[in-house]
Amino acid sequence: MCGIVGYLGHEEAAPVLLEALRRLEYRGYDSAGIAVLNGKGVATVKRAGKIAQLETALNGYAPRGTVGIAHTRWATHGPPNEVNAHPHMSSDGEIALIHNGIIENADVLRRMLESEGYTFRSDTDTEVIVHLIDHVWANGTRLEHAVAAALQEVEGAYGIAVISSRDPEKIVVARNGSPLLLGIGKDGTFMAGSDVAAVVAVTRDVVYLDDGDYAVLDRSGYRTYHLERGSVSRAVHQVTWDLAAIEKSGFEHFMLKEIFEQPESLGDVMRGRLLSEEGSARLGGLKDHEVVLDRVERITITACGTSWHAGLIGEYLLEELARVPVEVEYASEFRYKNPVIPEGTLVLAISQSGETADTLAALREAKQRGAPTMGIVNVVGSSIARTTDFGVYLHAGPEIGVASTKAFTSQIVALVLFTLYMGRRREMSVLQGREIVAALEALPAQVEEILKLNDEIRELAEVYRDVSNFLYLGRGYQFPVALEGALKLKEVSYIHAEGYPAAEMKHGPIALIDENMPVVFLAPRDGVYGKVVSNVEEVKARQGKVIAVVSDEAPELEGKADHVIRIPQTVPCLLPILASIPLQLLAYHVAVLRGCDVDQPRNLAKSVTVE
Ligand code: G6P
Repeated sequence: MCGIVGYLGHEEAAPVLLEALRRLEYRGYDSAGIAVLNGKGVATVKRAGKIAQLETALNGYAPRGTVGIAHTRWATHGPPNEVNAHPHMSSDGEIALIHNGIIENADVLRRMLESEGYTFRSDTDTEVIVHLIDHVWANGTRLEHAVAAALQEVEGAYGIAVISSRDPEKIVVARNGSPLLLGIGKDGTFMAGSDVAAVVAVTRDVVYLDDGDYAVLDRSGYRTYHLERGSVSRAVHQVTWDLAAIEKSGFEHFMLKEIFEQPESLGDVMRGRLLSEEGSARLGGLKDHEVVLDRVERITITACGTSWHAGLIGEYLLEELARVPVEVEYASEFRYKNPVIPEGTLVLAISQSGETADTLAALREAKQRGAPTMGIVNVVGSSIARTTDFGVYLHAGPEIGVASTKAFTSQIVALVLFTLYMGRRREMSVLQGREIVAALEALPAQVEEILKLNDEIRELAEVYRDVSNFLYLGRGYQFPVALEGALKLKEVSYIHAEGYPAAEMKHGPIALIDENMPVVFLAPRDGVYGKVVSNVEEVKARQGKVIAVVSDEAPELEGKADHVIRIPQTVPCLLPILASIPLQLLAYHVAVLRGCDVDQPRNLAKSVTVE
């Protein structure tokens, strides 16, 4: 969703803000803007389009000053044009505000403000906040007091940053439901941002704000408050990764870099967690929650997008190996459907960003009903990580490409580790546990092998770059892989693709099959391999084009499939990880060949912090 950043220091603010915006661009990229206190007032520049447009506009004309805010937008209210771009200004141009989130009572507030004589320039919900701040601002008021008073009237989700020439040399930020953190630099330099990527070039010391918090950054330091409780203290955390982690390091796109990072990210999610002798996993985050976990009778997994697909694989894992019944719910459905959460249910939220609004809301619903909650999250200190009772971090490093790749495979490993943990405390034998642990240890090297297929998969992409539809089919553990393969292709190449359980094909999608329809079969050697081979026959009988992902030898498919992609063999429960990687590469290369913007696909955002 939108990216926000603020800077107060001793350097020119505009270049620092622009640099931070580039790092935040993955959060939204339909328009961008900047506001700087220039000693006389607030100077603002906004542009529709990507940050590059703003950069061109600023070339030679960047406002001068050492305090400023900047924004990159993912439109919710109103089209992505210059007028709707942030910052939004008070009528006299003295207050500038940027916002991430959605104000739910915007219409009511707008009508009230219009009746008080305010004129609105944009279609956004954001503009009401800036006029409201002006409205409550009496002579001599400080910026933070005006912001706090205005926020008392506001309902909805927000992360905001505000500057004003009425009370200059200061930035006020606030959050409720949208992520916001402070970066504490040296010698009186401060930043604020919607995520760590915004501040990490300046500092690795960050303060995460909680919902209802606001903060003041000025020349005397930073202060944190809660809207109801007044002054509060918030701990300073150290970010463990550095700038290199959010740069492309020679790769053409973040998506490709992140695909190639998987041997490392998979190593990182397992590091220190494998117990070879016991055939189990040591998960620090679960340590003090054994009593709760031993009482768990069923698990409801809730997530969105790619994380939901990881959840489906979790269902197969936990049911088959730990014998715990699992349901997987779209977070957006779970939160509104009056879910049944009987005693003994653990609610497990899976999220890369830890900020997805629907997942967070589903989690809150579960907590409200008294269920214990767990998270599998990548971003440390994120809202979901802090809302759950306990959890497991992925340690995958920042994922910038909008289409999730390395976080997905790390989520599966985290679920395997959790399955080992739960299974070994229940019915899983030590031998079975050891077999899985040994297979996990071999995984990063196997992924290295698959990455060597990059050129071969690029050639395959050449063959299919111009088709209009794709079908992905798999069974058992490979069914969610099929869903994820189809999603990846859709997201980055805009080719329509569907994932389906291979046998269900007969009940509908088979009608679509002709000589123009490529069908990707996930057919590694597992318990349902023979069944999948029969499904391949059905497609070939109708002249469909078959791309088969196989492991080991697959004589039944040699000569039958039009293309065979061979991945190493491992235990069935880890095959989804290996099988996903060629599909990521296929989606990537098809998209590049079609000239698509792989890292910033149209209409998508990395982290969806609105409903
Ligand atoms: C967006 C992203 C997807 C992601 C989904 C869930 O749609 O574009 O890549 O899978 O949100 O995000 P989360 O951060 O909760 O995993």
